[in-house]
Amino acid sequence: MQIAIDGPASAGKSTVAKIIAQKLGFTYIDTGAMYRACTVIAQENQLDYGDEEAILAAVDQNQIELKVVDGEQKVFTGKNDVTQAIRMPEVSANVSQVSALSGVREKMVSLQRQMAGKMNVVMDGRDIGTTVLPHAEVKIFLVASAKSRAQRRMLDLKQRGIKSSQTLAEIEESIKQRDYKDSHRKISPLKKAPDAVEIDTTKMSIEQVVDAILAEIAKSQKNI
Ligand code: CDP
Ligand code: CDP
Repeated sequence: MQIAIDGPASAGKSTVAKIIAQKLGFTYIDTGAMYRACTVIAQENQLDYGDEEAILAAVDQNQIELKVVDGEQKVFTGKNDVTQAIRMPEVSANVSQVSALSGVREKMVSLQRQMAGKMNVVMDGRDIGTTVLPHAEVKIFLVASAKSRAQRRMLDLKQRGIKSSQTLAEIEESIKQRDYKDSHRKISPLKKAPDAVEIDTTKMSIEQVVDAILAEIAKSQKNI
């Protein structure tokens, strides 16, 4: 079974996707972490964020892996644990440029489909319902106001122990810029699939969002 969760930055996708995967015994796949890992690889190799050829060659030499270590989701590039590094503001600021490169998308989408072909998955990202898993049994599109998403992002960085000098207004601006770039790129832009269920989480708790998605999953099972 495939459950696709898409939406703009900090709408709560990964938080609820993780909980739902745990409840159902499915594998959670954070596709944003994969594009962030590509960006870290570019950064560490001092590559231009638009240099597709060089980035693809570096990604080939540093295999991106999502692993669960002691119950925690970790992201590796080769032997390096980049779980913390992928959340840094510098990565957030440049990931949209890297993720817009067609070769990078092709490589990541192929890896994502491979994983989804082997196991039951809850996958979150921007193009899961539209491109990566167009036949997913359940498609969810999470949205929330930019202000509440900025507040969530600020709290999230604090909770992850990541120090950032960005003010709330700066975080909101950088989220809006990223959403704009993600929605306007040529290849598989951020877009609600026609058959996705949209949920506005602005005023919802994490539990309420999880319950709403579980209800959609139950509904889809009845329809089979
Ligand atoms: O967690 P947050 O919402 O900040 O973003 P993310 O899910 O970690 O994704 C980071 C970036 O990766 C996005 O802004 C997109 O540029 C890109 N991305 C994508 O292009 N396609 C996906 N399926 C997932 C992420
Ligand atoms: O994956 P995405 O970027 O869409 O968002 P996230 O990283 O799951 O959520 C960002 C932050 O918002 C996390 O700290 C969540 O705990 C929080 N959150 C919330 O406060 N209320 C919700 N309904 C969903 C998420």
